[in-house]
Amino acid sequence: MAKLIVVTRDGTEHEIEGDTSLTVMENIRDAGFDELLALCGGCCSCATCHVHVEAGAGDAIPPMSEDENDLLDSTSDRSENSRLSCQIPFSDALDGLRVRIAEED
Ligand code: FES
Repeated sequence: MAKLIVVTRDGTEHEIEGDTSLTVMENIRDAGFDELLALCGGCCSCATCHVHVEAGAGDAIPPMSEDENDLLDSTSDRSENSRLSCQIPFSDALDGLRVRIAEED
């Protein structure tokens, strides 16, 4: 287990114990944050798991694939810290990762 900090759209910060056998998206969804729709279930085809990585990623976060980059281009709230949370396996190396749920498209 490692700590994952989720900031919801109203700006509230929530700290959860993340399961390192799951992705960041699965951790957020399983913790009950229904703002994160994750409609495709993690297949990298919907972009409704969009988050902004605010802190704690360092080098431990895997690089973005071309598909992820293309999908993020279709969102209106993209920033330089945007990622699809289903494409980030959570791990002990990401302990303390802080992500903010992106605005709804
Ligand atoms: S859950 Fe659909 S792209 Fe991540």
